[in-house]
Amino acid sequence: MGLVPTMGALHAGHLSLIERAKRECSPVIASIFVNPKQFGANEDFAKYPRAFEIDMQKMEQAGVDSLFAPEESEIYPNGFSTYVNVEGLSERLEGRSRPGHFRGVTTIVMKLLQIVQPNFAYFGRKDAQQARIITQMARDLNLDTEIVVCPLVREPDGLALSSRNAYLSKEERKAAPVLYRALEAAKNELTHGVRDAAQLQTSLRRKLESEHLATTDYAEVVDAQRFEPVLKVNKPCYVLLAVFIGKTRLIDNLYVEPKSKGSEELVFHF
Ligand code: PAJ
Repeated sequence: MGLVPTMGALHAGHLSLIERAKRECSPVIASIFVNPKQFGANEDFAKYPRAFEIDMQKMEQAGVDSLFAPEESEIYPNGFSTYVNVEGLSERLEGRSRPGHFRGVTTIVMKLLQIVQPNFAYFGRKDAQQARIITQMARDLNLDTEIVVCPLVREPDGLALSSRNAYLSKEERKAAPVLYRALEAAKNELTHGVRDAAQLQTSLRRKLESEHLATTDYAEVVDAQRFEPVLKVNKPCYVLLAVFIGKTRLIDNLYVEPKSKGSEELVFHF
């Protein structure tokens, strides 16, 4: 059995997880739950896009066998008071900018895994830190579910698919691929031998600043295990971006690792 957890407003990124699950599992269960506990007080819970009828059609077309779309009161009844928190990893980067966010994510994912009890659960590398934290939770708490992390799906112009892209005005939508272009420039530098994280960060910021609608929250090079800053790219790393385009906060990333231990040649997931 495979589970694909989502918050709905489905796009091709979500559908790619379902397709992967369909190849590896039967039955495939998907969930839609806009989880209030992972949104901060000043975040977009109330206006988060909801498209339940269309999502149901898309899931049916994609071959989902069952959809779990619980009410909030079913998941968090009065008196609910137990949370799952992955220490350390949850406090950096996204966790620093969005306090409490990952505690909400790990709590709901733990509950979904307990309710559905899947053999496999599918997550996107679009949310690289989230996928890493969920993998750590599964290991730390001896969960019987294998966490599968799937490739990031992009628009033709490079913008990572996200339900939040729906917030972008026409002008902002045009500006948004600057995240991709900044990562592409970093990839280019890496390919040409740059390994110094500070140098990569400087050029990422310069590229992002060239777009007047963009405000950088963070642009970091971290190791892919601990998500801590590195000095040099000589092991598996993520280049991570969080950028406001107008009022909309977008994230994106580039994964890079040496082809083999000690090798100068790099492999990218982008
Ligand atoms: P949501 O943002 O709806 O995303 C559901 C899943 O789709 C996540 O695993 C996410 O990483 C993946 N995804 C989103 N955009 C993607 C893209 N462009 N390419 C590949 N995968 C993509 O992430 C959440 O919901 C929630 O935090 C959740 C895990 C459901 C817990 O509430």
